[in-house]
Amino acid sequence: MKDFGNAVVYQIYPKSFQDSNGDGIGDLNGVISRLDYLKKLGVDYLWLTPVFRSPQKDNGYDVSDYYRIEPMFGTMADMDRLLAQCNARGIGVMLDMVFNHTSTDHIWFQKALAGEKEYEDYYIFKEGGPDRMPTNWESKFGGPAWEYVPSLGKWYLHLFDVTQADLNWDNPRVREELKNVIRFWKQKGVRGFRFDVVNLISKPAVFQDDYEGDGRRFYTDGPHVHEYLKELVRDTGISDMITVGEMSSTTPQHCVRYSNPEEKELSMCFQFHHLKVDYKNGDKWELMPPDRMQLKNLFERWQTLMQQQNGWNALFWCNHDQPRIVSRLGDEGTYWKQSAKMLAACTHLMRGTPYIYQGEELGMTNPHYRNITQYRDVESLNYYQILLKKGKSESEALAILDARSRDNGRTPMQWSDCVNAGFTDAAPWIELSGNYKTIHAQAQTDDEDSIFCFYQKLIALRKATEVISKGTIAFMEQENSDVLAFRRNYGTQELLVWNNLTAEEVTIPMQPSWTDYYRLLGNYEPQTETGKNIVLRPYETIVYANADLKIDHGAGIC
Ligand code: GLC
Ligand code: CA
Repeated sequence: MKDFGNAVVYQIYPKSFQDSNGDGIGDLNGVISRLDYLKKLGVDYLWLTPVFRSPQKDNGYDVSDYYRIEPMFGTMADMDRLLAQCNARGIGVMLDMVFNHTSTDHIWFQKALAGEKEYEDYYIFKEGGPDRMPTNWESKFGGPAWEYVPSLGKWYLHLFDVTQADLNWDNPRVREELKNVIRFWKQKGVRGFRFDVVNLISKPAVFQDDYEGDGRRFYTDGPHVHEYLKELVRDTGISDMITVGEMSSTTPQHCVRYSNPEEKELSMCFQFHHLKVDYKNGDKWELMPPDRMQLKNLFERWQTLMQQQNGWNALFWCNHDQPRIVSRLGDEGTYWKQSAKMLAACTHLMRGTPYIYQGEELGMTNPHYRNITQYRDVESLNYYQILLKKGKSESEALAILDARSRDNGRTPMQWSDCVNAGFTDAAPWIELSGNYKTIHAQAQTDDEDSIFCFYQKLIALRKATEVISKGTIAFMEQENSDVLAFRRNYGTQELLVWNNLTAEEVTIPMQPSWTDYYRLLGNYEPQTETGKNIVLRPYETIVYANADLKIDHGAGIC
């Protein structure tokens, strides 16, 4: 299996990236029109979230046909053109494979409903009277995980929306169908895959009630998941392609297995523990300020374990399911620029492959919607009702959505200060963030001091030295909750990285051995050093390198 330490991936949520035909919805031709921007940023791969046929109940994560493009996004000819245009620029396309479930509009499910036994066995149907649910499991979008089908006298499992029916991976025919989907897209020239909630595909042999939680402990990293992944990768011949699995509520031990090259499963994993440090008692819908110590401990634990056991991390803060990171761990006001850059340095300089989510490279923020009518996401709309039922007031529920809604990451890409930020000429499908007049690509692509340029530099730096893509990692300042600091080593080369996670000044004692190190990168003007201490200003990032780590200044870094 190949190693993707040198690669940087850019995630596109096509619906919100660029509209090309004036219907207010982003599309494939819109993506094509922006490829030079991505080339300028310097990324190697584009991960497109699902553009397959879909009723869009969950914005494409409810696929009704894996072989067709959803007309709203364009045609197969547009997809072919996108692949060719990316290829011409040396950018690989990764598609998003939603294989844990299909839309209930999928022909397989429709046939199951029509009573074809063969297709019933494609899904997880359980016998039971209309008032006896097979288990008490809950859907991740709220409400029960089972839906009754009166005509069959059976219930089907849906870990997500009621229109997203879980597939039965224990059925070899299902596994063959899904392999064919991979083969089809591979042969079209797709260069990698992201596998949606792939650690949930293997359900337990016996379904039982969960008296401790929502049922996830029975199907997360389930009994045959490693076996099924190995089979999928082997039979489709994708072991040398970039593959990333989205792992829901997983463990480092499982992620080592998913991503260790010897296992021949995936190139890397997304895991989410670090994005729950502001969940009160682990509940996404209860607000709490971020626990920085926990954040640091989690990074240290995951990075160290993956390193020891030859696993590989995907590094990320943002995606289409997460609120914007500047709004969450940074500062939207005075230190907006510094904090966005500091957060970028954290992910880009640890051990793993970094992912940039559209607009993150511009420091895009949460939109701060004020009204429930501004939200579009099925999860947000469901939870708004659940929160009200639980006794929260409307303003409390809105404050929770303001911080936690997945729509925070789905507002249109801010290209310019023109109408609708240059995203569309029509009414956008979801409202823009009001700050697009100041935060937009046009203002940043040619400004040396911009967040965009900082991302460019981080990417260029990864390409200019092996210490980032191949080096080991060890953490420093472990007791200090204010600073995320680590060293990277490769041969005799050393890189030291300090990230001030706070809006206060933080002082770090200087070690004698560092005195001849040079400052490689930072998000402030360098200051005169006292020799004894390193003083980090609010949200400051400082990167030092030793003399053995020489960077060619032509590489566009400093
Ligand atoms: C993943 C996707 C999310 C989707 C869910 C169900 O978590 O990232 O957007 O709703 O899977 O497919
Ligand atoms: Ca469109």
